[in-house]
Amino acid sequence: MRVKKLKLKQFRNYDALELTLDPGVNLFFGPNGSGKTNLLEAVHYCALGRSHRTAQDREVIARDREMGACGVTVEKRDGAHDVAVKLLFAGEKRKQVFLDGKRASRLAGMMGMLQCVIFSPEDLMLVKDGPSVRRRFLDMLLSQLSTQYFLALQSYQQALRQRNALLRQFRTAPVPTASFLPWEEAMAQAAAVIIPERRRCCARLAQEAQKRYLSISGRDGEVFTLSYECCLSQEDNLREHVLSELDRSRTEDVRRGGTGFGPHREDLALYIQGKDMRLFASQGQMRTAALAMKLSELSVFQQMAGEPPVLLLDDVMSELDLNRRTRLLDEIRGVQTLITCTDESDLNAQEKYVPWRVSTDKEGKARVMACVHQEREQRLRELDDGFLDE
Ligand SMILES: Nc1ncnc2c1ncn2[C@@H]1O[C@H](COP(=O)(O)OP(=O)(O)O)[C@@H](O)[C@H]1O
Ligand SMILES: [Mg+2]
Repeated sequence: MRVKKLKLKQFRNYDALELTLDPGVNLFFGPNGSGKTNLLEAVHYCALGRSHRTAQDREVIARDREMGACGVTVEKRDGAHDVAVKLLFAGEKRKQVFLDGKRASRLAGMMGMLQCVIFSPEDLMLVKDGPSVRRRFLDMLLSQLSTQYFLALQSYQQALRQRNALLRQFRTAPVPTASFLPWEEAMAQAAAVIIPERRRCCARLAQEAQKRYLSISGRDGEVFTLSYECCLSQEDNLREHVLSELDRSRTEDVRRGGTGFGPHREDLALYIQGKDMRLFASQGQMRTAALAMKLSELSVFQQMAGEPPVLLLDDVMSELDLNRRTRLLDEIRGVQTLITCTDESDLNAQEKYVPWRVSTDKEGKARVMACVHQEREQRLRELDDGFLDE
């Protein structure tokens, strides 16, 4: 799939923008703070209804404005669609989704319309940080592939918040068990959707990630293992097992003031040669593992969705050494890619790409201009010089 048009209105430092993107590699370059990441963020909004870097929708509305919006025209195998997200600073429905011009009744309606995978320097946190980063990685991937998963996740989180509220209430005055049951039932039903999807997805990711790690590191002896640490060991009757675990741990949870069991506590364990990466890996091994995980995400997308997602590479080129950069560029053939960097020369000169220059005006408003390929510019200069010499 590909994004044909990208539109921004009062989004971050953009007043109004409309771009027709190239189906191949689009390179956005310009100084720091000019608005390059903001463009990728807008595409991410149109895929997942949220930013990749903030949970606060208000942050992306242009300063001193009441409303901001972004939208795309997506071309897929089954035709073209318009997806737009409108954000309001105040009021009831502060996030509104539009599909082909019509207001969707819920956010889930947009899931899967546009699929994207984003690479950024923060990917290293996948390896270094705690479990929540890896759960978000899985959730972002699966939510885009399965609306059912996204809905289950939403309902799980909502029920979990209710159960936790009751647990805290219990500390001041006993709450009857019956009050917990509807929320635990909702959590169990949702978990019975979430767990099998995570299992299936992690099995594929694990296989891919091991292969990719080997090919990037080039060291045969170094085995990277990724495994899903599920909250249950059972394969069947997941709903019943979750219910009985929640029932069993209620007293302990009251003491703890939160729910200690469930998909919200799961993790993806990462090992190198059987040792926990977070404790034993070198910086280089961590970088390789993070890149292997992201490349695996891309390939799981292709396998499960049947067509490639749009790839967003935010400032990663300068972070990668030549070997990792080449691996990455190998993978993006045939995938529409939006790359940001501060210097056009960060991209291998042999790659075909369409360059866009991002800059800001005196008021700090961003603009994007199509510009001439560096190589072509060079050739034109040479022609010019020759002409002048004569
Ligand atoms: N809500 C907002 N309204 C106006 N400008 C914003 C808003 N949020 C961020 N900015 C501006 O956007 C710029 C950063 O854009 P970004 O895309 O992150 O830069 P970069 O080109 O380095 O990736 C900064 O100048 C910042 O002040
Ligand atoms: Mg940036």
